Amino acid sequence: MGKEIRSVGVVGCGLMGSGIAQVAAQAGLTVTVREVDQGFLDKGLGKIRKFLDGGVAKGKMTAAEAGAILSRIHGVTALEDLKGSDLIVEAVTENLDLKREVFSTLDRACPPHTILSSNTSSLSITEMAAMTQRPDRFLGLHFFNPVPLMKLVEVVRTVRSSPETVEAGLEFARKLGKTPILAKDSPGFVVNLLLVPYLLEAIRALERGTARVEDIDTGMKLGCGYPMGPFTLLDFVGLDTTYSIANILFDEFKQPQYAAPTLLKRMVLAGYHGRKSGKGFYDYSAEPPKPTEGLV
Ligand code: CAA
Repeated sequence: MGKEIRSVGVVGCGLMGSGIAQVAAQAGLTVTVREVDQGFLDKGLGKIRKFLDGGVAKGKMTAAEAGAILSRIHGVTALEDLKGSDLIVEAVTENLDLKREVFSTLDRACPPHTILSSNTSSLSITEMAAMTQRPDRFLGLHFFNPVPLMKLVEVVRTVRSSPETVEAGLEFARKLGKTPILAKDSPGFVVNLLLVPYLLEAIRALERGTARVEDIDTGMKLGCGYPMGPFTLLDFVGLDTTYSIANILFDEFKQPQYAAPTLLKRMVLAGYHGRKSGKGFYDYSAEPPKPTEGLV
């Protein structure tokens, strides 16, 4: 049996990091979350506060419970301040050089028992583990957006992850109220391996003139019971993110289903990154959003 996880560190308080910090605090754990400066930290903690306030308004929790959750989250700006954590989840930008800096600093600062993990959706866990002196205590913990609502965590093991570390990762996900699935370190793990070619195929159907954006979305929502159609989901995940994952999958497997369609590449180059940029397959300046004109 490994040491019980009571304190959690989260690197990055963006979309994913703030969600991970929140669900860990909701599970009663002590959380230390790190951002590069106070401005980003305030913004990230603000996202958590807003979600919890929404929960109070919906009657999902009391204001006192929301306050208690927030009081378990401590914001810091120095990576070394995460050294008291039993497990650390890295959720910074998908950039290997940046991750190298994060993991080598954490590896030096943390005691031997600390488990290091990455929330990456597309980079190699094995490569990141090799940046540290503790590849046996390293794994992937891939959460889904929006973290507080999505029930899945992919627990990703490398050939060097110890069985105790894998068990601790599974147990941690369960403790957060999530359902873990175990995957080996292979590009896209399980979900993106299947999801990304589906999203790319929707773009190809649009390019081919099979149907309009809104009809493809309605087709998959009502025909398959998906909560969002592929274009709404593409805008939600981010076109830049999807493009980058597709390139990584194509690089590895060299199979056409992972090749990014021209339209996706052009939209990313044009700055149409989806909901976060105000425009993607839909234009979010209108309420409700309407399909973006002139794409095909
Ligand atoms: N606090 C507490 N509960 C809240 C809340 C809050 N602030 N906001 C919403 N909820 C609850 C709602 O009350 C509701 O609960 P009930 O079912 O008990 O009523 C539930 O959460 C759903 O909320 P909504 O009804 O407001 O929203 P929705 O039904 O439109 O669902 C969604 C929103 C969960 C995002 C849904 O559209 C969905 O599942 N979309 C697909 C998302 C997806 O596929 N994500 C994965 C992307 S891929 C990825 O992340 C990986 C990668 O690497 C790219």
